[in-house]
Amino acid sequence: MSSEDNHIYPVFDQILKREDKEKLLKQRSKVIWCTGLSGAGKTTLAKNLEKALHVQGYLTQVLDGDNIRSGINNNLKFTKDDRKENIRRIAEVSKLLINSGVITINSFISPTEEIRQVAIDIIGEENFVEIFVHAPIEVCEKRDVKGLYAKARAGEIKNFTGVDSPFEQPKNPNIVIDTDKYSVQECLNQAMDCVLPFLKY
Ligand code: ADX
Repeated sequence: MSSEDNHIYPVFDQILKREDKEKLLKQRSKVIWCTGLSGAGKTTLAKNLEKALHVQGYLTQVLDGDNIRSGINNNLKFTKDDRKENIRRIAEVSKLLINSGVITINSFISPTEEIRQVAIDIIGEENFVEIFVHAPIEVCEKRDVKGLYAKARAGEIKNFTGVDSPFEQPKNPNIVIDTDKYSVQECLNQAMDCVLPFLKY
């Protein structure tokens, strides 16, 4: 359906542009997208990144699976289609944020190439910095921070990523962070070294 059919006429030529906001904030706005299994350390890294960037004067916003799914996406489950819709909405929200000059740090399993491509297509490849937060599934399962792997193995949760729902490793992330090999601080340092050049004004 074209926008004329449903009487919607979006206006994209705002007086103030993204560049004006970036100038005000003295930063380049990007979406830093953390993908990885549940328990790999995405949320920990996202929170630490936000804090470290804040200290250096960057304005950021963290978007996280558990938070978004209890709010704007609380009608979505974990079927393939719902996961795709989850990421589509998050990507649209991220686009609004970066158009306001805000650096967006996203923490979502985003388990397949197809789903991550949905995000890239909306956000734009040039605005997308991909961090693969990696730990082997055995490690994530052993950590089982939320007790969800145990529930999935017991059949109490269906379609759990890595158990009975697929996770495809990203092919070309900007960086892979092995959270089973490095300390939380070392992982943060690696992530900062990767993202800072993209954000500097
Ligand atoms: S995504 O696959 O659609 O990208 P998202 O990152 O939003 O997932 O949500 C993942 C969080 O939802 C996990 O950290 C976990 O706490 C919770 N969760 C509940 N059910 C599932 C499930 N079946 N698979 C994965 N995560 C689940």
